[in-house]
Amino acid sequence: MSNNTKVTDSFNFFNGNDPKELVKKYGSPLYVISESIIRQRCRELKNLVKYPKFIPNYSAKANSNLAFLEIVQSEGLNADAMSPGEIHVELMAGFKPEQIFYVSNNVSADEMKFAVEKGVTVSVDSLSQLETYGKVNKGGKVAVRLNPGVGAGHSAKVVTGGKKTKFGFTLDLIPQIEETIKKYDLKLIGINQHIGSLYMEPDAFLQSVATTLEVSKQFKELEFIDFGGGFGIPYQKLNDQPRLDLKKLGEEFDKLLNKFVKEYGKEITFKIEPGRYISAESSVLLGTVTAVKTNGEDKYIGTDIGFNVLQRPVMYDSHHDIEVYNDSKEDEKVTVVGNICESGDILAKDRVIPKAVEGDIIGVLDAGAYGYSMCSNYNNRLRPAEVLIRENGEAVLVRERDTFEDLTRHFISIKE
Ligand code: LLP
Repeated sequence: MSNNTKVTDSFNFFNGNDPKELVKKYGSPLYVISESIIRQRCRELKNLVKYPKFIPNYSAKANSNLAFLEIVQSEGLNADAMSPGEIHVELMAGFKPEQIFYVSNNVSADEMKFAVEKGVTVSVDSLSQLETYGKVNKGGKVAVRLNPGVGAGHSAKVVTGGKKTKFGFTLDLIPQIEETIKKYDLKLIGINQHIGSLYMEPDAFLQSVATTLEVSKQFKELEFIDFGGGFGIPYQKLNDQPRLDLKKLGEEFDKLLNKFVKEYGKEITFKIEPGRYISAESSVLLGTVTAVKTNGEDKYIGTDIGFNVLQRPVMYDSHHDIEVYNDSKEDEKVTVVGNICESGDILAKDRVIPKAVEGDIIGVLDAGAYGYSMCSNYNNRLRPAEVLIRENGEAVLVRERDTFEDLTRHFISIKE
């Protein structure tokens, strides 16, 4: 082991495994997932409040690896889904239909029908979708997603509350929601919201909770209210970025829930939908330095981690800390790039990291949320394998690397 593993050592992330050996055995790039960290994060959120009827729905869009979902399911969490595909893998992982919540957005009648037939509760977020749902499941139960007027998030691309977003009913539409519910004899059993992804301060979340609770009082048949995800994690651990103060958030949240229940007169269920908080820190993306070069004043570290493998830096200018698994005592400022044919294929720009040479293994930290789940085959590259480090330190393969056969499986040749 080297001296350049400050963050992963502080978590005992590799739990006795050597990243270089993992790459030797399973190939590069490679997503490495820690079972212990997934379980730890699930438990923290299950205990977020003392209110007894509280449950987190893990948001599978962040990481929908089957083994990952099986671990989350075994911790007693429920799940949310954004597509029939997510419902399918969640059922495969052992979630019961009644533990899955389909938070749909602009979906077809067929997709709604799929969920209804499976016994999964559906949320809709526009009058036109509520009409579609009414036709698909007349007399059925439904949830509606409200936009509480406040948003939060690390990038404009992931803010989903407030103005300028395609999500949720604005509150002025409530009379029309009621009319449409009546028209199709629906029963409004749930209210949900999601204000955006990644906040490190609780204020916007708590404000949205207060608004949604206030508005929800008028609906008399509610079984649950779901406050969405967005709980942030510190991506700048090398700079000692503090964690989201869950204790403070939980205490304030709890007060609001208990106050609501007293006024509403019924102990309904409260949910949240965390994706990133449970998954981000559970994975390190390992890659190999394939080339080192300079262009004028800039030094480039070329790797096999293109943006087909991790999109976040390119898509949102997101920061991921990088470890270099060598014994270098010298740091240098470099730009770390991938192997995709676009100049924007940059993992980290002007970043100070330990001096790296060809053949070194690097680790991109906090890659478990929206990492593999946003991978693609762009440039006809093969998506990487995923390895799980069990609680006892054993490393097991939980997803195979793509093969050429996977790349060409759906091609239909027109050659005679
Ligand atoms: N619920 C709903 C309705 C959502 O749309 C999302 C995320 C979540 C829950 C989970 O949010 P989380 O707890 O993970 O923040 N690809 C972006 C993030 C997109 C978030 C999309 N919706 C990224 O890499 O930062």
